[in-house]
Amino acid sequence: GNNDIDTEVVVLGSGPGGYTAAFRAADLGKKVVLIERYSTLGGVCLNVGCIPSKALLHTAKVITEAEETSHHGVSFSAPKVDLDTLRNWKANDVVGKLTGGLAAMAKQRGVTVVQGVGKFTSSHQIAVTAADGKVTTVGFQNAIIAAGSQATKFPGAPDDERIMDSTGALALADIPKRLLVIGGGIIGLEMGTVYDALGSKVSVVEFMDGLIPGCDRDLIRPLQKRMEKRFESIMLSTKVAKIDAKKDGIHVSFEGENAPKEAQVYDRVLVSIGRRPNGKNIGAENAGVAVDDRGFIAVDKQMRTNVPHIFAIGDIVGQPMLAHKATHEAKVAAEVIAGHKVEFQALVIPSVAYTDPEVAWAGMTETEAKAKGIEIEKASFPWAASGRALSIARTEGATKLIFDKETHRVIGAGIVGVNAGELLAEAVLAIEMGADAHDLGLTIHAHPTLSETICFAAELKEGTITDML
Ligand code: FAD
Ligand code: NAI
Repeated sequence: GNNDIDTEVVVLGSGPGGYTAAFRAADLGKKVVLIERYSTLGGVCLNVGCIPSKALLHTAKVITEAEETSHHGVSFSAPKVDLDTLRNWKANDVVGKLTGGLAAMAKQRGVTVVQGVGKFTSSHQIAVTAADGKVTTVGFQNAIIAAGSQATKFPGAPDDERIMDSTGALALADIPKRLLVIGGGIIGLEMGTVYDALGSKVSVVEFMDGLIPGCDRDLIRPLQKRMEKRFESIMLSTKVAKIDAKKDGIHVSFEGENAPKEAQVYDRVLVSIGRRPNGKNIGAENAGVAVDDRGFIAVDKQMRTNVPHIFAIGDIVGQPMLAHKATHEAKVAAEVIAGHKVEFQALVIPSVAYTDPEVAWAGMTETEAKAKGIEIEKASFPWAASGRALSIARTEGATKLIFDKETHRVIGAGIVGVNAGELLAEAVLAIEMGADAHDLGLTIHAHPTLSETICFAAELKEGTITDML
């Protein structure tokens, strides 16, 4: 035809949504082209998101655990941090292994990767412009848009390399003496946790009245308490009024009842106030794909846009902006294109903040039930009564289950504590399987484990709990 390449399926963007869709479509026998502007596959999640942040959070946890072991009579000297080695470990042994693996998997499946910025030129063609200006046109029968999102900029912030987004923070240029985190959401608190452990004095400013708005307050309290002890300050209901980049540091003034009266000087500032979708940068209008004011693309349960042969998945289709949501949607889109009668049917999408302690929740929250006037029952098991939590000296946790008042089925779960993200999986399965408190209470959990706290919470609800430790 008139194209450099003609294919059955083109995927725009190679993040968790894009690579999963491309691989699934190829496995189902489709000829697939995957377009990515960067030289490595994996998108935000693998390169500058989920994976490098978890590597650094692991290092942070080792440091803080070593510090706290002194309470049990074992002391280590202050850690010596070699930033070059830490950066190399993150880049080569963690991120590089995964992105290299993806490249091999694409090759194995015969997925053609085209590097460059892709833009729709019509409803059946994307033009890909490489860094050297060379344009490759790709004609397609079906397209899957997986172009993801980018960090929201702080309005009016000066252009200065000391004012960073999450990518800058993960680059670990240095360990600032004072770091200000603007936005007390998941990115801000995860990266704040990393820099605190590495030795920075961390301050967080959040304009809402609580950290991680959207999560139940009883789950946030233990996290906030611990952060208040470790961090320099947590300023809630506080606005950033002005940011000035000066030679001696970034001068920031605040507004609000709890705000410091004087402008504060920081060595670096992390802006983590949310992410916005990339819908406006892909030439969607040339394909007739509708993009809303904010850059989101609306899809139906089969991940189809308003143009029936073009699909969209991942961050670009809306909240929650999470990797596991993107991969799940990716499989749906690829399978629908291959003719399978499937749709997005998951009941719940789990959320995890990999802070210390971790906070994890899925399904109905108490806050949501209250707001919507839904009657629920709940049971919350305090980790202070868990033998395992005591033996690892981390009793600040809690495991909460939310039940449907009539059917007694589990419809929500929230856990705060060490490894909450791993523990949540059982509750998510319970919700998807329609399990009730009885099912969870009658399932034998190994002792002593933190996973027992799910069984204990179910027994609390049933009134059958006997031994708490
Ligand atoms: P993305 O991963 O954003 O990938 C989109 C890709 O498309 C990019 O590679 C981009 O270069 C490419 N692209 C865009 N436009 C074009 C174009 N025109 N031409 C060519 N290529 C293009 N989620 C979790 O679930 N767990 C976590 O622990 C977690 N941690 C995170 C930590 C950080 C610091 C950040 C920033 C995010 C984190 N997330 C986490 C969110 C997660 O990264 C995203 O939800 C996920 O990456 C979305 O996947 P996606 O496929 O929709 O898009
Ligand atoms: P977020 O939406 O989670 O949090 C942003 C926070 O900034 C909110 O609390 C908001 O109230 C606050 N805020 C907004 N404007 C502000 C302002 N001007 N001043 C002060 N505070 C302000 O966004 P975040 O943390 O940037 O992360 C983006 C997304 O990335 C997350 O929502 C999530 O989808 C994804 N992510 C997921 C992770 C995980 O699953 N563990 C880790 C990191 C990111």
